[in-house]
Amino acid sequence: MEPGDGVVLISDILGGEHVEKDVTVRGWIYRIRSSGSIVFAVVRDGTGNIQATIKKNVVGDEEFEKASQTLVESSVKITGTVAEDERAPGGYELKASNFSLIHMAEPFPITKDQSEEFLLDKRHLWVRSQKLTSVMRVKATLLSAAREWFEKEGWVEVTPPILSASAGEGGSTVFGLKYFGKTAFLAQTAQLHLEALIFSLDKVYSLTPSFRAEKSRTPRHLTEFWHLEGEAAWVDNEGNMDVHEQLISHMCQVVAEKNKAQLRELGRDPTILEAITPPFDRITYSDAVDMLHDKGMDFTWGDDFGTVEERLLTEDLVSPMFVKNYPKSAKAAFYMKENPDDTTTVLCSDLLAPEGYGEIIGASEREVENHTLIDRLLEQGADPDNYEWYLDLRKYGSVPHSGFGIGIERVVRWICRLDHIRDAVPFPRTPSRFYP
Ligand code: 4AD
Ligand code: MG
Repeated sequence: MEPGDGVVLISDILGGEHVEKDVTVRGWIYRIRSSGSIVFAVVRDGTGNIQATIKKNVVGDEEFEKASQTLVESSVKITGTVAEDERAPGGYELKASNFSLIHMAEPFPITKDQSEEFLLDKRHLWVRSQKLTSVMRVKATLLSAAREWFEKEGWVEVTPPILSASAGEGGSTVFGLKYFGKTAFLAQTAQLHLEALIFSLDKVYSLTPSFRAEKSRTPRHLTEFWHLEGEAAWVDNEGNMDVHEQLISHMCQVVAEKNKAQLRELGRDPTILEAITPPFDRITYSDAVDMLHDKGMDFTWGDDFGTVEERLLTEDLVSPMFVKNYPKSAKAAFYMKENPDDTTTVLCSDLLAPEGYGEIIGASEREVENHTLIDRLLEQGADPDNYEWYLDLRKYGSVPHSGFGIGIERVVRWICRLDHIRDAVPFPRTPSRFYP
């Protein structure tokens, strides 16, 4: 029960809590129609929808008149008796004794069958839709489950900067901006700053927006996404993957328990998520290339995997799978530790989500030798002077360490079975859109 006025949550009514009781619901008109001397109004309060029947002979002429003229998305407060009714959507109905209109909406611009572009222009209103509401609830649970896991395992949450002097992931996809006569960059990753913090805090994580000036219009790229990153001292590439499989499994378990209704609404069977438990399969990049060849794909060893390759690798899986030890030519990040057993590859891992969704985590063990880091920066055309502070980290008590970045919207897209990543975020930013 919410404080005041006997206001209750619609989800509680639908859960059978208030049968035959007098209650008040408040929310927005989802659907409304009148038939003679009865108005049927479906009200949404953010926890669920319930149908209210408003009868002229019960509420009186004036209130009935108001109810019958009320437009969709108007805000209302309705008091009445909760009745079980098989015919009502959700199985319960509110027999209104009082109808009060809080704000009469103008005709709502969103009606059936509108184009995707129109819905994106009206995103500030479309975020009220059942689908996006369910997605946002699932996302909130995933984030709180992740924090719960980190907390339990002794990781410290830190707050790295977003404005940065150098590119973290390579110059080609970095957004620059004017910074008092200089150029600053929007962070692509918090990794380098997180690395600085492990020397005192050991295991750190952060949740920040990351920015990528990627022109690619794919269903899995945003220009601004939420990045959950971790970095830990004394952890090698295999230990890093242990962390990911535990964390992702915990997130799946919690969301399967807490958001059954939303998941079902989105077409995701929660039992599939309940079954996601460690360990996840770990295959090498070379194994993955063999798999692609077995599936009849023409693919050259040394190239990076894109949407198509990752879909082929994962479409028949139900659990996520690691692909590790990519060639340097495919995963070029300068900070990835060279594989001592095969110097053409690096000690990294991508976690690929099943059912064709593909990469959700990018991770690696980090290079700890300064001369190697400098060589790699130069190979990539970067100026080591811009990384002076980062190179300092290898001068004072360098330790083996590893870290990872989870694209939260990528995880949400998989968990919620979304066709496009833009629905994993309320206000998507893509190459062609930063409004509303
Ligand atoms: O694989 P990425 O580029 O790795 C890093 O940025 C590392 N520095 C992270 C780290 O080790 N701290 O990005 C990490 C993840 C990807 O696996 C993907 O899930 C997500 O971030 N990601 C994007 N999500 C949405 N839109 C984009 N344009 C994304 N680019 C990366
Ligand atoms: Mg990656």
